Amino acid sequence: MQFELSHVEKIYTSSEENKVFGARDVSINIHEGDFLALVGPSGSGKTTILNLIAGLILPSSGSLKHGGKDITSLTLEERTKHRLDYMGFVFQDYQLLPILTAWENIEFPLQLKGFSKTEIKERVDWALNQVGLNKMGNRFPKQLSGGQQQRVSIARAIAGRPQLILADEPTANLDSKTAQEIIELFLKLNKDFNLTFIFSTHDQRLIDQVRTVLYVKDGQISEARTHHV
Ligand SMILES: Nc1ncnc2c1ncn2[C@@H]1O[C@H](COP(=O)(O)OP(=O)(O)OP(=O)(O)O)[C@@H](O)[C@H]1O
Ligand SMILES: [Mg+2]
Repeated sequence: MQFELSHVEKIYTSSEENKVFGARDVSINIHEGDFLALVGPSGSGKTTILNLIAGLILPSSGSLKHGGKDITSLTLEERTKHRLDYMGFVFQDYQLLPILTAWENIEFPLQLKGFSKTEIKERVDWALNQVGLNKMGNRFPKQLSGGQQQRVSIARAIAGRPQLILADEPTANLDSKTAQEIIELFLKLNKDFNLTFIFSTHDQRLIDQVRTVLYVKDGQISEARTHHV
């Protein structure tokens, strides 16, 4: 199912006189199996665009659809459920719960989704295996390296078998070798499961490995480059 932003504008109004364009006239079609990078300077609108796709913020104008369904007309509760059903998230700072083990961090959103105990176990083990951490499920986040923590957060994101993974600067806290490994893991998951990715990055070294790069400037997609990796 396709995610579609059409002529989306997002204006942040902190006060009547103070209006900031987070996104202007942004149109993006995300198809199943896409691997997209949003690239642009600080403040250009990358996080805004990801939050719009996630339905975490609503457009000031323009349309936001998933599989033809208008996301902007859903209630807050419906949007939350929609996100849980279809999307997985990876963050710059991993956002693992420190009091839960790696295994329990992955289990948590599956419980929210109402899976049975047997299915949860099967999915958590599968996800840990995909990220190469099947022996580390019992460790707490502080007992893992940054790269390992990010792998746990990727396992958490994929365990619910979402249609789309959104990642805001997923490698920004990692050294270049680990950053490279995380992108390779994304590429593997994209290839093996046709899983769709959109992520933002500042990291020039990673950009050449990405099939489609959307350059963001002043809230606009200024250029899209597609090449074969
Ligand atoms: N909640 C908000 N209220 C007001 N202005 C905002 C808000 N969030 C973002 N902005 C503004 O919108 C513009 C785009 O911000 P955004 O966070 O999307 O950029 P970014 O490309 O993700 O930057 P960075 O690389 O630093 O993360 C900036 O001018 C920013 O100041
Ligand atoms: Mg950002």
